[in-house]
Amino acid sequence: MLALRNVTKVFGADAQRYIALDGINLEVSEGELVCLLGPSGCGKSTLLNILAGFDAASDGSVHFQGAPVRGAGKDRVMFFQDAGAALLPWLSAEENVRFALRVRKVPKPEWPAIIDKYLAMVDLAEHRRKFPAQLSGGMRQRLQIARALAVEPKVLLMDEPFAALDALTRRRMHGFLLDIWRRTGTTIVFVTHDIAEAVTLADRICLMSVGPGSRITEVIDVGLARPRDLADPGAAQLFKRVEALLTSEK
Ligand SMILES: Nc1ncnc2c1ncn2[C@@H]1O[C@H](COP(=O)(O)OP(=O)(O)OP(=O)(O)O)[C@@H](O)[C@H]1O
Ligand SMILES: [Mg+2]
Repeated sequence: MLALRNVTKVFGADAQRYIALDGINLEVSEGELVCLLGPSGCGKSTLLNILAGFDAASDGSVHFQGAPVRGAGKDRVMFFQDAGAALLPWLSAEENVRFALRVRKVPKPEWPAIIDKYLAMVDLAEHRRKFPAQLSGGMRQRLQIARALAVEPKVLLMDEPFAALDALTRRRMHGFLLDIWRRTGTTIVFVTHDIAEAVTLADRICLMSVGPGSRITEVIDVGLARPRDLADPGAAQLFKRVEALLTSEK
């Protein structure tokens, strides 16, 4: 589905030159949920922006379904960390979803059914006329999920989407996301610096090293049944292993 070969990203020039990514190789299969895990500043957002086509690699190749990525595409949707900034404050919940459908040129007769379906999926059907400012933080994140999924992208790129939420809401959002992922079969690349979140969600965890010249240092096949509980021995063991790997990196 997605393939990165030897991707390098250099920012700036001369004295300002900074090698953010150095030789990233990654393949993501259709329907997979991959987590990119690494410390702040290691280049996770940079990598996601390259996958989205918002930014170009300095070197190496990026392919989506066998074709080189040359810019943003409607099959790859980015989910930003700050839902407040991503949602349109002057539009209600349902109008925010409708807006995405219009932008993506989904035929108008299909809009009402799609809007109903995705608002129901994230449990916001009863709040459809509220504006973003009238929703809680978790509701805004769910609305952003509904809006992202309504255009039925093949790939969802999520940049620390739940970092700002309290632990309980975050856990609920994980449940929502896994449920929707199972039902839609969307391929997900999920960026986080939270080991517990990666262990809870991922099919595979890709560990990134600290920059400059950040790389993927380890790829772990998780292989644990879902839903996962971090108190279960398998998950706890994996958490410890990932923690040790990240600590030894520094
Ligand atoms: N436009 C830019 N110009 C110069 N340097 C940049 C630019 N964007 C990112 N960088 C640098 O690249 C490195 C990686 O940044 P990036 O935002 O990808 O990190 P991150 O892993 O997403 O961190 P966080 O977890 O804090 O969000 C940082 O050192 C950052 O300063
Ligand atoms: Mg980031």
